[in-house]
Amino acid sequence: MKTGRYDRYKVGIITLSDKGSQGLREDQSGPAILQMLEADSCRYQVVEEILLPDEPEQLKAALIRMSDEDGLDLILTTGGTGFSPRDWTPEATMEVATRNAPGIAEYMRAKSFEITPKAMLSRGVSVIRNATLIINLPGSPKAVRENLGFILPALDHGLDILLGRDGECGSNAARSAHAAGKPERPLREISFIDSETARWLREEAPEDGLCLKRFHADYELKGVCGWKTGDRVEITGPDGDKLQFEVTITGKRCFPECSLLQRTGEKCPLAAGVAFGRRTAGEK
Ligand code: MTE
Repeated sequence: MKTGRYDRYKVGIITLSDKGSQGLREDQSGPAILQMLEADSCRYQVVEEILLPDEPEQLKAALIRMSDEDGLDLILTTGGTGFSPRDWTPEATMEVATRNAPGIAEYMRAKSFEITPKAMLSRGVSVIRNATLIINLPGSPKAVRENLGFILPALDHGLDILLGRDGECGSNAARSAHAAGKPERPLREISFIDSETARWLREEAPEDGLCLKRFHADYELKGVCGWKTGDRVEITGPDGDKLQFEVTITGKRCFPECSLLQRTGEKCPLAAGVAFGRRTAGEK
């Protein structure tokens, strides 16, 4: 089953590493991807992370399962893109592809050349399998951060088109919400839920803007990047009314003992990219 119109993109992360899969080396690249996507948790929800040896047949099986059975929207692999005799990630990825999407890999390499000529040594590919986008990232945490950082700004638009959520460039026009006292930023459409009425509502908010979810007196502000405790923000609510918030807590990695996690039963309610805000004005 694919995700609904306003759901986040479901993402799988596959680390290819012989040593990592034998427990001989700690995988830092998968967690680097996770951290970057959690910082944009309004858009991306990592539902699966696995570590495999550099075995192309195992990778192919995992890619097929994650796209066909689990219905993931995006699969990011890391590792196995180089010249070593055990590096077969691009070949395995191409074998499960239904269409090519070379621009993503081309762009990553082109931008990486500005950092290191060794970028030419990554053979990573980007392809589509039915309604799943699959992208190979190189293996080191540094290369992961750089390459994913290059493509993230355009990735959601490609995914929207692939998933039939957004046919036209620029259709999410700027409308209402903005952060008070902060520079104008591009807007995007988001959804938020009022847990008292359990109603899903549409909203447009800054690129790094808000998904609102009510937790008793506080609101969960998702997709918030770079905001600090004490920041004052203003957004436009569902009825066009201006809601003002003071940021009370900013997110970190989700951890099992977290009282909010225990209270809500939801995974990572306070992940990176999430803040909580106290409503200071605009209450009806
Ligand atoms: N791309 C960027 N942006 N930054 C890097 O440090 N490392 C390169 C390349 N791409 C690198 C990069 C190196 S040294 C190699 S060998 C290849 O990615 C392949 O890496 P992999 O075999 O770990 O997948």
